[in-house]
Amino acid sequence: MKISVAGTGYVGLVTGVCLAEYGHTVTCVDIDERKVALMESGISPIYEPRLQELMIKNKERLSFTTDYQGAYKEADVIFIGVGTPEKQDGSANLTHVYTVAEQIARSVEKDCVVVVKSTVPIGTNDKIEALIHSNLAHDVTVHVASNPEFLSQGSAVRDTLGASRIVIGVEDEEAGQVLQTVYKDFNAPIVVTNRKSAEMIKYASNDFLALKISFINEIANLCEIIGADIEDVAHGMGFDKRIGDQFLKAGIGYGGSCFPKDTKALHWLANFHDYELKTVKAAIDVNENQKLKLLKKSRKYYERLTGLNVAVLGLTFKPGTDDLREAPTLVNIPLMIEDGANVRAWDPVGIENFKKLHPEGITYCSSIEEALQEAGICFIFTEWQEIKELELDKYRTLMKHPIVLDGRNCYQLADAEKAGIVYDSIGRETIS
Ligand code: UGA
Repeated sequence: MKISVAGTGYVGLVTGVCLAEYGHTVTCVDIDERKVALMESGISPIYEPRLQELMIKNKERLSFTTDYQGAYKEADVIFIGVGTPEKQDGSANLTHVYTVAEQIARSVEKDCVVVVKSTVPIGTNDKIEALIHSNLAHDVTVHVASNPEFLSQGSAVRDTLGASRIVIGVEDEEAGQVLQTVYKDFNAPIVVTNRKSAEMIKYASNDFLALKISFINEIANLCEIIGADIEDVAHGMGFDKRIGDQFLKAGIGYGGSCFPKDTKALHWLANFHDYELKTVKAAIDVNENQKLKLLKKSRKYYERLTGLNVAVLGLTFKPGTDDLREAPTLVNIPLMIEDGANVRAWDPVGIENFKKLHPEGITYCSSIEEALQEAGICFIFTEWQEIKELELDKYRTLMKHPIVLDGRNCYQLADAEKAGIVYDSIGRETIS
């Protein structure tokens, strides 16, 4: 089967590479010539474990091009994996998806299935189908299928090769059959449904996970007030299979390219239809507040951060990725700087991207130790392994005042106590 994939971001590139790993011949299309040249030379433009290795391993079956016409004209299946960023009003920006749909319509010269992998609001697949049918340049049949993606950044390849489920949303049996053939070697349950339900499965899954995080964060905030321990509470809850033990990690809120955008987009869509999704709205509001939790805590120790060396450990929205989208640091660091802090930041892979946004005003450090030098306070924003494995004594020996505000609960309270540091984390007793 000849497959083309439009877009080489997290979704598009990982999809293309994993389909090649399962034996398909795949052409990945992107408008960015520099990126295409990079991928052609075997280099992945994004940091994802195993991605580059699989790009090199499957190079005979993988090609990269900016020539979308050539890539689409004889393809059996065309995946759309371009971005659907958030618009100012919270709705999804579908410009890229519609542009690709039109390009496909003008290019295809044989019957094919267009598969929408991008996260799109419910009803968008119908619009894509209409757009393609009204722009077709040749007398061919094009089916449109929804096939949402459930990969997480940092484990994208693992999540795709060993998918928890494959959701296929179709309006005709033929397209369903083609997709079942594409995925025949993937050892995952296949859910076949109509297109709108498939689109909804994606949003409902992400919004439910976001809600779970906001819920546990609220419980954590209450734990702090009443003297309970969120780690024990979450542990005790997780044994109930109806609740599950995943996504109960309290912290400084969810970031990334998906939860913030998908909660707002579904809430917007509901509003558009005169319905208020109250639980999703609550998840969004709780998250906005949670992001500032550490900064609020810092007021307990310093009225202002003026003139203080402030160590920031972790810049990315989670470990295992260099992605900064919606990372809590993006709102916190500018506020620290505004307050007059000397920010000294460390991250194992996120510094280059952060520098692009903030080339000045921050001292970027190549080690945790360097960031901690003479610091009056330390903020932990990402639970990188290097941070978790740090000897806690270092906070005491390197910092001017060993005050550690941990937004990801990286350490045991007993260890912090033994190290003799002030340790203020989320939903737990403060060690001082
Ligand atoms: C998320 C979903 O987990 C994927 O299933 C989905 O396919 C993806 O969005 C998408 O729609 O593309 P991702 O954004 O890569 O994946 O990252 P997650 O691991 O879900 O983490 C998101 C945020 O939630 C991070 O900031 C993380 O720190 C936070 N989080 C996660 C918590 O605060 N607590 C938890 O228990 C889990």
